[in-house]
Amino acid sequence: MRALERVEGRDKVTGRARYAYEYPVEGAVYASAVQATVGRGTIAAVDAEAALAIPGVLAVVSCENAPRLRQAADAELAVFQSREVSYRGQLVAAVVAETLDTARDAARFVRIEYAPAAEGPDVRLHPGHPGIYKPDKVNPTFPADSVKGDPEEALPASAVQVEATYTTPAEHNNAMEPHATLAVWEEDGGLTLYDSNQGSSTVRDTLAEIFGLEPERVRVVSPHVGGGFGSKGTPRPNVVLAAMAAGVVGRPVKFAFTRQQMFSATGYRPPSIQRVRLGADGTGRLTTVVHEALSQTSMIREFVEQTATPTRMMYQAPNRRTAHRVTRLNVPTPSWMRAPGETPGMYALESAMDELAYAAGIDPVELRIRNEPETDPESGLPFSSRNLVACLREGAERFGWGDRDPRPAVRREGRKLYGTGVASSTYPAYRSPNQAYVRADADGRFTVRIAAADIGTGARTTLTLIAAETLKVEPERVAVELGDSSLPRASLAGGSSGTAGWGSAVVRACEALLPKLDAGLPAEATADTTDEVKAQEKYARHAYGAQFAEVEVDVDTGEVRVPRMLGVFAAGRIINPTTARSQFIGGMTMGLGMALMEQTVMDEEFGDYLNHDLAQYHVPACADVRDIEAFWVDERDAHLNPMGSKGIGEIGIVGAAAAVANAVHHATGLRVRDLPITPAKIL
Ligand code: MOS
Repeated sequence: MRALERVEGRDKVTGRARYAYEYPVEGAVYASAVQATVGRGTIAAVDAEAALAIPGVLAVVSCENAPRLRQAADAELAVFQSREVSYRGQLVAAVVAETLDTARDAARFVRIEYAPAAEGPDVRLHPGHPGIYKPDKVNPTFPADSVKGDPEEALPASAVQVEATYTTPAEHNNAMEPHATLAVWEEDGGLTLYDSNQGSSTVRDTLAEIFGLEPERVRVVSPHVGGGFGSKGTPRPNVVLAAMAAGVVGRPVKFAFTRQQMFSATGYRPPSIQRVRLGADGTGRLTTVVHEALSQTSMIREFVEQTATPTRMMYQAPNRRTAHRVTRLNVPTPSWMRAPGETPGMYALESAMDELAYAAGIDPVELRIRNEPETDPESGLPFSSRNLVACLREGAERFGWGDRDPRPAVRREGRKLYGTGVASSTYPAYRSPNQAYVRADADGRFTVRIAAADIGTGARTTLTLIAAETLKVEPERVAVELGDSSLPRASLAGGSSGTAGWGSAVVRACEALLPKLDAGLPAEATADTTDEVKAQEKYARHAYGAQFAEVEVDVDTGEVRVPRMLGVFAAGRIINPTTARSQFIGGMTMGLGMALMEQTVMDEEFGDYLNHDLAQYHVPACADVRDIEAFWVDERDAHLNPMGSKGIGEIGIVGAAAAVANAVHHATGLRVRDLPITPAKIL
């Protein structure tokens, strides 16, 4: 297929592409949020008088006067419905004013009186926390635990054993565009939302439920979205707040979280504490794999990161166990962040595999190849396709792994120690039911309609290519309309499932259109893949990859730099090489941030995250990213969807942090088992 640059690229760089907050709706006013300043307590009283006295202020909305919502399955969306404060930073009021400046200024004058709880907020995740419990399931619907064979018996009997605890911090998604909504109540009682999200159909359904409207009465418009990384996968409180405020003042309302507010209001990757135990025979074949993960959720909603699930199918071993535990804390509810589960889980597993390689005296690439399973080791299902070994071999070749001296801390040039590391990557290949519409016009042009979301990934461009290929026309003749809930219903841009799900519906609609073209134009066709997705054969469906990294460690400052990262992925058929490469190297860059920089630090006395802006929450800048390359092996998976593709949005981050951490060990001889690897942990 042709490599195509983003079809909306020109609109984006010229500023013509409109984002939620930018729609010029007449009479729009502005909301600003007030956050709780206690970590645990009850709102005793709200004094809005001083704020209301400021010229231009239209309303102060809080638990004292907020309209009652019909229902909110996600308690984080029950905005201003309760006096309970369960974490610091929780939304407690909003000011609506004629201008944004007035709203923000007045928000400082809303006085909230709290009755603090007898004890301070309970915010520290630790293995001895009395509230730790086994959840019924982990995200999205996996069992909390799994067991095969007898790991407790097999482990001590294994020739080589590794036991280690790895910890990862809270991390925040930080999309460039904040979560923003412009809410307009129409004269007929309908609700229009210009909103930044990863799925307009989902936002429509959720908001319809919350405000007790028929879904057809809610329209969500989101043609351009400036990133999400999972944090816009489900609606956040901004949508509810804007719609509620617009109802209160009888005017359209614009609301966006500030960067600082995003750290408590829009979700984050929960911290994890993971214990991994591996046993192997003298040849490096695994006898035992045990992976136990602990994470946190909030007081108001259970969210359990599926941290150990990739371990269930990565490597062959007769004795195996995974377990997830969680505890409720006075913290914001965690949410989806790029490859939730796989990202922290594979950091731990792939670090432990590196430790095992050293303990067994086997090359880390070879160790992984030796433990390649023929079928899914826990479910017994065949793999739809699995080319991890090909990725490891091609990656080793391209990276120059063969020349590596495995001894740690032996490559030194001046103040710098050098080392290299490898890790496997994986992500599930999901597909959801979708609907699509396509029309052929007499001018030779085709229009595709689907409520898909392009959050910066290039989805619009990829769907253009998929439609053009099926219709056997040049992509220039195809226009894709997406990002609007009034278009045929679509699944989320989430779980790396977008292209598979939307693309299937687009292919089927185009296939249905082709025979109609001879009967005269215009012609149109629709498709619904619900039955097709339901009828899928049973396979273990995953994408795989191999991550390689080189590090340079300054022995005086402890600073780690990454001169080189190289990934090779087996992710089905690559539909658009141009945007696919961006997804892979973007994920790898985020993995670099996870390895060395990203962490949000909880204030253990008062609650809430202390570092809540991009000056203090560090992500890689251009100077941190030197040579990153992504390649892919030729793979076409006939069991997944008509394109033969797998998702690529998340796999690039998975394993990247372990590759860097393993390289740090190779360079220095130090095992840092606590991310991020900051200079203090090296010195
Ligand atoms: Mo992704 S974290 O499933 O949007």
